[in-house]
Amino acid sequence: MPFSLLALPPLAKALIAQLGGWLFAYVSARLGTLGESGLSSAGIITIQAVCAAALAWWLASDRWWIPIHLAFTPAIIAAQQLAIAPYWYLVAFVASWLIFRNTIRTRVPLYLSNAQAVEAIAEQLPSDRPFRFLDLGSGTGALLLPLARRFPNGTFVGIESAPLPLWLARWQAQGQSNLVYLSGDIFSESWRGYDFVYAFLSPAPMARVARKARNELAPGAVLISNSFPLPDQEPSRVQPLDAAGRRTLYWYPF
Ligand SMILES: C[S@@+](CC[C@H](N)C(=O)[O-])C[C@H]1O[C@@H](n2cnc3c(N)ncnc32)[C@H](O)[C@@H]1O
Repeated sequence: MPFSLLALPPLAKALIAQLGGWLFAYVSARLGTLGESGLSSAGIITIQAVCAAALAWWLASDRWWIPIHLAFTPAIIAAQQLAIAPYWYLVAFVASWLIFRNTIRTRVPLYLSNAQAVEAIAEQLPSDRPFRFLDLGSGTGALLLPLARRFPNGTFVGIESAPLPLWLARWQAQGQSNLVYLSGDIFSESWRGYDFVYAFLSPAPMARVARKARNELAPGAVLISNSFPLPDQEPSRVQPLDAAGRRTLYWYPF
């Protein structure tokens, strides 16, 4: 298969865009010094940012990379003007690593279910019989903790691979005996035996979620996906969570 830059993973494209931006900026600065008036620092930074964004666009990176490339170098330069102690950069790096270190592989960042999602799901859970509820990628427990408090008849399980959100979730759930968090990968753990399985992930893993759900969920179980529908299955219900339709619950009975 011929090598194509367009097939590179997103981070490799981002690196190429930034380095390419710096190459353009360097060449422009050198050419500028040959002319009557040299380029200002602001001019060089602008050239770097615009070229990096243009390269990202040319490499067919997702659209949200464009503002990141436009802001990246100006933000570094601006941060250098602030008198921030160097160890804060280390703290920010370690915290980001503990939250996002798997995001490159999973392509699922951390964002949290809101109160509307909790309410919409609570309306559908039984209060008169036991049930088992699984959250795929449970984050800080924004969904599971309020549900576990509200439904003592339910057993709630979260699977999470990022250490810091997992630690926060476990810390908040101390004493909540019907709620447990497992450290691991959602595709390595079994989904068998659950009545409700909740996913708030990203478009990237949804085909795999659909396959595993079809293999492992029993008839009568329900998969609820927040914001990202299964690619090859019609939901029985589409439930917008806000008027603008930014978040929607998709219900899939099996
Ligand atoms: C969008 S957040 C949702 C958090 C939580 N379910 C909620 O609704 O508030 C997705 C979470 O899934 C986790 N995650 C993504 N892929 C995963 C995987 N393959 N195994 C375990 N956790 C995963 C991420 O680390 C992140 O915390």
